[in-house]
Amino acid sequence: MYLNYFGLTDNPFSIAPNPDYLYMSPRHKEALAHLTFGLRESGGFVMLTGEVGTGKTTVSRKLLQQLPDHTQVAMILNPTLSAIELLATVCDELGIECDPDKASLKYFTDRILAKLADNHHAGFNTVLMIDEAQHLLPEVLEQLRLLTNLETNREKLLKVVLIGQPELQQLLKRPELRQLSQRITARYHLLPLNAGEVSAYVAHRLNVAQGDINLFSKATLKAIHRITAGIPRVINLLCDRALMLSYTKHHAVVKKPIFLAAAKQILGDDVVGQRLRHQHTLWLGLTFVSAMLVGYMLGAWYV
Ligand SMILES: Nc1ncnc2c1ncn2[C@@H]1O[C@H](COP(=O)(O)OP(=O)(O)OP(=O)(O)O)[C@@H](O)[C@H]1O
Ligand SMILES: [Mg+2]
Repeated sequence: MYLNYFGLTDNPFSIAPNPDYLYMSPRHKEALAHLTFGLRESGGFVMLTGEVGTGKTTVSRKLLQQLPDHTQVAMILNPTLSAIELLATVCDELGIECDPDKASLKYFTDRILAKLADNHHAGFNTVLMIDEAQHLLPEVLEQLRLLTNLETNREKLLKVVLIGQPELQQLLKRPELRQLSQRITARYHLLPLNAGEVSAYVAHRLNVAQGDINLFSKATLKAIHRITAGIPRVINLLCDRALMLSYTKHHAVVKKPIFLAAAKQILGDDVVGQRLRHQHTLWLGLTFVSAMLVGYMLGAWYV
């Protein structure tokens, strides 16, 4: 609706995972580098964690694009499965034909191990990627570990990428999963964007849609960081609503009060109030500490 008004060719803050809008912040790049490096190692597992909406799935898509050609990938997006369902899904993903009458843990495991060996002989790597892995049951994780037991002298025949919210780290600390934990060769925790990265992120998305960062005032950009805590999904939702509100009010630029109004519509008055107060308390605290320091230095100077 507001696209023509702001001279945009596309919705810059859609939450659809469009690769054109990908902004590889230093931390997104680092996450990708850790996973890529981990997959080259000999161990069985690599892990990417991060708060909700920080860009884990986005990074995993980028990783998929970068895997070497001779790689077969099995992707599991909804892992609320029992061990047998998980193995059946892995078979589907790897194109393994199975006889439903014989379905058992052992049957599926044998079929998958045979496929891993075939892939290896044909010069293919096999990667299993599991998103939302915080939902995996401990016994399912243990089953996965058993699948990574097959190895040559140099490396495991199955590499598993676990992607999930911070609860995944807690899950892997359980004593019964310590064997799996020891096989994780790379872990990365994706943090939200800092203030500079938030501005760069907004600028990048606007640029792709032929827009300009000046559509948002400097004060608005600071408020975006403060209110969204640097979480890309929240940035998108709030910026989209702020553009819409500015359009309905015939403003050429998104000003801070309009952005805060948009944020209140989406997050609620209490959340926005709380985040603004938090910043205010921090500022008062810093002022107090600075005043104490100046007082102390003056005192020392007089004595
Ligand atoms: N680096 C990025 N570049 C561009 N857009 C991004 C980036 N990271 C996140 N986004 C945007 O934020 C949205 C949420 O990202 P994503 O789905 O990857 O987060 P997530 O960490 O997997 O969230 P969840 O914990 O809910 O699974 C994406 O749809 C995308 O629009
Ligand atoms: Mg995700």
